[in-house]
Amino acid sequence: MKALVLCGGSGTRLRPLSHSMPKQLIPVANQPVLVRVMGNLLELGITDVGVIVGDRRAEIEEVLGDGSSLGVRVTYLRQDAPLGLAHCVRLARDFLGDEDFVLYLGDTVLTDGITDLAAEFHATRPAAQLVVQKVADPRAFGVAETTEDGRVTGLVEKPQHPRTDLAVVGVYFLTSAIHRAVDAIRPSARGELEITDAIQWLVDQGLEVRASVYSGFWRDTGKVEEVLDCNRELLNSLTPEVVGEVDADSVLTGPVVVEPGARVVRSTITGPAIVGAGTLVTDSSIGPYTSIGAGCLLDTAGISDSIMLAGSSVCQVREVRGSVIGRGASVLTGMAQHRLVVGDHTRVEFAA
Ligand code: TTP
Repeated sequence: MKALVLCGGSGTRLRPLSHSMPKQLIPVANQPVLVRVMGNLLELGITDVGVIVGDRRAEIEEVLGDGSSLGVRVTYLRQDAPLGLAHCVRLARDFLGDEDFVLYLGDTVLTDGITDLAAEFHATRPAAQLVVQKVADPRAFGVAETTEDGRVTGLVEKPQHPRTDLAVVGVYFLTSAIHRAVDAIRPSARGELEITDAIQWLVDQGLEVRASVYSGFWRDTGKVEEVLDCNRELLNSLTPEVVGEVDADSVLTGPVVVEPGARVVRSTITGPAIVGAGTLVTDSSIGPYTSIGAGCLLDTAGISDSIMLAGSSVCQVREVRGSVIGRGASVLTGMAQHRLVVGDHTRVEFAA
């Protein structure tokens, strides 16, 4: 079995972070989402992975390389414009050959992995197997209609009046039947070749399409709130480990990781929290659900429920919460006034 991991797309909902980093590389609990995806594939024994890339190939390649450091073999496949998920399958035709494959959206986090789902696919081996999850409000998702025994009878993209509560998750188990489907469909109203249309085509041809229900934690990291949700969830299973230096005036409670070369001085850290390699924390308070990347600086700072990317700093600012601070960015105190250098599509909020 092969895998096709999609890392093209525009990432508009994750601006401004996605201006400087493809969203598949955003770190949650200090690990890029895409590296977790590769881990889930490796658990299935899949080592032959096609990665669809757009303009951000160089950055993706810098992290994945040829895949060998992660135990997989990566083949990069170029998509000139984000023309849809089914378009990605078309582009990968030669790479995939006639093998079964997992189509995995590169911004998807499934903390329970996909081995149970794969076992179900191998046991029944339908033409296609969707992964679905029951959600409170399915209107923002692709929604699957199924029979009681899990056979898919229809798929609707973002329905106003959903007939089920089964949202389609960004992982699909597919056979070579999908290639006829992606050749048969036409672009949707938004100009994309939709994977939902391709799967609906399989259903319309009378082929067996099944849905398996995933009940673990699932998010795609399309928006900042979702990135923070993932961070919280992953930190909940953090194994504490202090390798860096923590002085006698600092207090660590709960599960805390202090990576090599980090220094914590006269500070309190309440886990779950990670302090990245080479980061310096002085006279600060780090609250739960905080992931601090490598080479950051916190001085007289207070931060919780947040992600700081590598090389960023927070100095003399308390009560930073629910925030994502980009690579090399600085958050500093102003005196009576605020002096701001704010990039495109940035959001700045001052408490009243
Ligand atoms: P989406 O999140 O649906 O699209 P997007 O990345 O363009 O983001 P936004 O809606 O915020 O502008 O994409 C899901 C995943 O599939 C993501 O990892 C990007 C990838 N993708 C491609 O590789 N090619 C494509 O043509 C599309 C539409 C998405």
